[in-house]
Amino acid sequence: MWSQAISFEKGHLTISGLSARELATQFGTPTFFIDEDHFRDRARAWAHSLEQHFGQSAGDVYYAAKAFICTDVARWIKEEGIGIDVCTGGELAVALAGGIDPKKIEVHGNNKSVAEIDRAVHVGVKTIVIDSLFEIDRVAAAASKHGVRQGVMLRLTPGVEAHTHESISTAHEDVKFGFSIASGAAAVAVAEVLTHTSLELRGFHCHVGSQIFGTDSFELAATRIIALMKACKEKHGIELPELDLGGGYAIAYVPGEATVEPEDVLPSLSAVVKRECAAAGLALPIISIEPGRNIVGPTTFTLYEVGTVKDVLLEDGSTRRYISVDGGMSDNIRPSLYGAEYSAVLADRVSTSAHVLSRVVGKHCETGDIVIRDIQLPSDIAPGDLLATPATGAYGRSMASNYNHLPRPPVVAIKNGKARVIVRRENEADLLALDVKE
Ligand code: LLP
Repeated sequence: MWSQAISFEKGHLTISGLSARELATQFGTPTFFIDEDHFRDRARAWAHSLEQHFGQSAGDVYYAAKAFICTDVARWIKEEGIGIDVCTGGELAVALAGGIDPKKIEVHGNNKSVAEIDRAVHVGVKTIVIDSLFEIDRVAAAASKHGVRQGVMLRLTPGVEAHTHESISTAHEDVKFGFSIASGAAAVAVAEVLTHTSLELRGFHCHVGSQIFGTDSFELAATRIIALMKACKEKHGIELPELDLGGGYAIAYVPGEATVEPEDVLPSLSAVVKRECAAAGLALPIISIEPGRNIVGPTTFTLYEVGTVKDVLLEDGSTRRYISVDGGMSDNIRPSLYGAEYSAVLADRVSTSAHVLSRVVGKHCETGDIVIRDIQLPSDIAPGDLLATPATGAYGRSMASNYNHLPRPPVVAIKNGKARVIVRRENEADLLALDVKE
């Protein structure tokens, strides 16, 4: 749950030797603190494991930018030599600003605009993952316009029910993404792409969902896609060279959960892919993956300051303790959106008080503004205390909003005992900047 540079000495949270109190004083709260080396290590671990298990057929690890991206993080990705998955023109712009080679970029999106496609083709991205029949024509037209043969993949829906929250499960039939294998839509799309000389069909892509423990849904998806690759060979006489199996590897948010590590999935996934390809009479394709949450999630924690503590009498005669912090659903929408669970610790002092059942809430004008629904915390928590919430690196800052006109928190990178701002805190001027004045 906690980034690797964190330690707890006598109740004081420190990261790379910097105490939570020092960090709060220097950077304010709420703030996201990201452990740079941990991010780099996790990125490397996926790339290394992919190579170990797929050898010559190991493709790229494309970090899913949607989990969290900024220019500095894009630079880390470039330096680590991995690729990036972007799904909007905005994410593409940040990847390019960080110096990532377009040949390491894969472009997603179920409704890419013509302008987004044009820019992606123009800058020379490696792959555009096509999501609809309309897009086949749009990408082909852009490629012809720029005089290039654009590498593309088809996003497929393999009809897999991933065991995760409905909103982040993406590969069953009733979704907006991709071409269904079962209905025959995928086969139609393959034939259509092959009619365009400006497109190079590099292979298939699927992403079964997010925050997935276990390997069975990845394996089932791979099996179904390999069956389609075989059908393609039989029908069109071509062996598609690449297979991208997406991201979705889960992380630990609360005590008792364990983050999925590359070695927990890739050995069995590679065994299944190799077995199925051999059975289908296909050469092993290049295998790429797109972990987002799993790389960045565990590297970051959010530091909040407690503002108020209130005991509320419930109907059954018990009380509920509400601890209000200075952020909330604007910096972490996941509890309200997906019922996601988080944990927290008192970060800057030792408490010997008994623990009481508490609810950590934000400062927004909504009852659903909950950071942690139920947690045991020391009964003497008081205004001014610091609370640290681990594993907030993925889909925290990237889904942050200005709801209630709260400025979005900064992101501070920690490396070798030094802290530096990589995304600054918004201020009142930022909040007013878009309002047109007469
Ligand atoms: N590749 C594709 C095509 C995706 O759509 C996604 C996530 C990923 C990779 C990365 O998935 P990851 O490894 O991060 O699980 N906002 C939600 C998660 C939505 C994920 C959407 N797609 C959340 O906070 O849980």
